[in-house]
Amino acid sequence: MSQNLKDKVAIVTGGAGGIGSRIAKTYAGAGAKVVIASRSQGKLDKVAGKIDGEVLALATDVTVPEQVDNMVAKTIDEFGGIDILVNNAGGAMFIKSPNDLEPNEWDAAIALNLSSVFLCSRAVSNNMMERGSGRIINISSVAGMRLSPSFVHYGAAKAGVINLTKGLAMSWAPNNINVNCIAPGLTATEGVANWLPEKTKEDGTSVPPLLYPPDPEHVADLALFLASELSAHISGELFPIRSLTELA
Ligand SMILES: NC(=O)c1ccc[n+]([C@@H]2O[C@H](COP(=O)([O-])OP(=O)(O)OC[C@H]3O[C@@H](n4cnc5c(N)ncnc54)[C@H](O)[C@@H]3O)[C@@H](O)[C@H]2O)c1
Repeated sequence: MSQNLKDKVAIVTGGAGGIGSRIAKTYAGAGAKVVIASRSQGKLDKVAGKIDGEVLALATDVTVPEQVDNMVAKTIDEFGGIDILVNNAGGAMFIKSPNDLEPNEWDAAIALNLSSVFLCSRAVSNNMMERGSGRIINISSVAGMRLSPSFVHYGAAKAGVINLTKGLAMSWAPNNINVNCIAPGLTATEGVANWLPEKTKEDGTSVPPLLYPPDPEHVADLALFLASELSAHISGELFPIRSLTELA
């Protein structure tokens, strides 16, 4: 049993961003053929150029069903099938109290963070069923596990992803498709650089790593475990990964 993904085919949505591009790199390093999908072809090409291995960059808006179907069809054309889907595209989009949030903003947040997970999972499921196995890894957030008053749209969508994970896992268990969910806390990506705490304490000593937000690499290592044969009997589960300070 190993974490080797040799000859496996993985789609990583939001693969031009912080956590997604790191997962793509980790999967390629483990031997997978990787499709990275997000909206900007230019950004995807830049990321693809920095990853050693077979990488296909497909401009895709994961909120648009036709574009999702196209992403799946092109992956099957190019690589012959799909073994792994990481539903990573997402983001809080707005920091607003519920009263200030417009209905169209609510809809957009749900479309990006929840409906896209359903659309992409549904789109790959037929191919995974035909092949008799598959792995789906959904990136939720600790915002989906606790109160988040400035992000009710994001918290509600990410909570939905946790429940959707369990429902899809049960539905597709007879087809040998494992569906699991990672819920990162604040993670040290470029996009949240302004929110990260200092790495050095007032007395000049370093903050212990487990009391500091994880790096994208830590999330990617968990995503590798959930894509590998080491997690063969794990499905429908939720894996938070965060600084211990977020438990307080
Ligand atoms: N960084 C954190 O602190 C943190 C914490 C918890 C959860 N998360 C979750 O992790 C995931 C990745 O976050 P990140 O911090 O790397 O974000 P990021 O903004 O760096 O990357 C997000 C990626 O998703 C893509 N994307 C956005 N809308 C899209 C669409 N409609 N179609 C296709 N792609 C789209 C972006 O282009 C980008 O490539 C998200 O689901 C996010 O909610 C992040």
